[in-house]
Amino acid sequence: MNFVQANLNMNTMNPFPLALTRAVSPLLGDCELTHIEREPINIRLAEQQHHDYEQALEQMGYTVRRLPEAPHLPDGVFVEDTAVVFPEVAVITRPGAESRRPETETMAEALHEYRELHFISEPGTMDGGDVLVLGKSVYAGLSQRTNTDVVHQLADILKPFGYSLSGVPVTGCLHLKTGIAQIGPDLLLINPEWIDEGLFPEYHCEVIHSDEPYGANVMVHGNIALCPDAFPHTIEWLQKRGFDVLTIDQSEMKKAEAGLTCCSVIVE
Ligand code: GLY
Repeated sequence: MNFVQANLNMNTMNPFPLALTRAVSPLLGDCELTHIEREPINIRLAEQQHHDYEQALEQMGYTVRRLPEAPHLPDGVFVEDTAVVFPEVAVITRPGAESRRPETETMAEALHEYRELHFISEPGTMDGGDVLVLGKSVYAGLSQRTNTDVVHQLADILKPFGYSLSGVPVTGCLHLKTGIAQIGPDLLLINPEWIDEGLFPEYHCEVIHSDEPYGANVMVHGNIALCPDAFPHTIEWLQKRGFDVLTIDQSEMKKAEAGLTCCSVIVE
């Protein structure tokens, strides 16, 4: 496998948990956009910010492995949308934007090493950013990228392992996980303008600060949380809950309509 090992201190005997990433394409400025206007993207800065992101993942305890570069694929850095990994299997997506479909090939090659693979097929379309897994409950965001056919396909794939599937309408943002994250066993962080908190009655839903509509897309691993530095209210809230909070600048990824989770696939 043609990985670049980004982690200098990794334990080669046990690389898990892994974070799979991919380098920023020089064509990132031509990425897909759905809800925001196009602005110029500074590619050098985007590369630096992605490097900082990978270093933060290492600080959180992940071994970072880079997929083969795909400079011809503008959105290729947003690997989350190409696969969803469960303890038992991995599901390779069929991204909603046609330009993004070739991104799945190298992800499938990489995940083949770790999991039995299943593939979303036509007419299903699905971006991994639309799939939230809360224990044995799987929520598929019904967005402009992910359709209802996928709910049935995922249900069939995951039923033998005891998972249940629900479709969740997503309005006003790109993906389900743009507006919701699991912070603790019973705690979600959510933007109720985009996602209906009433669909998660078993959880306490903390509403993001109104100045930070994208604040819900944070990453948590153990006692460490990763949050863009543009969200001070969210950072303060996480700190008050006892997390050590790592922060990074994501200004260029934000212009590409992406957040923290978009830039990695986690394999536990
Ligand atoms: N630029 C991120 C996406 O549209 O998929």
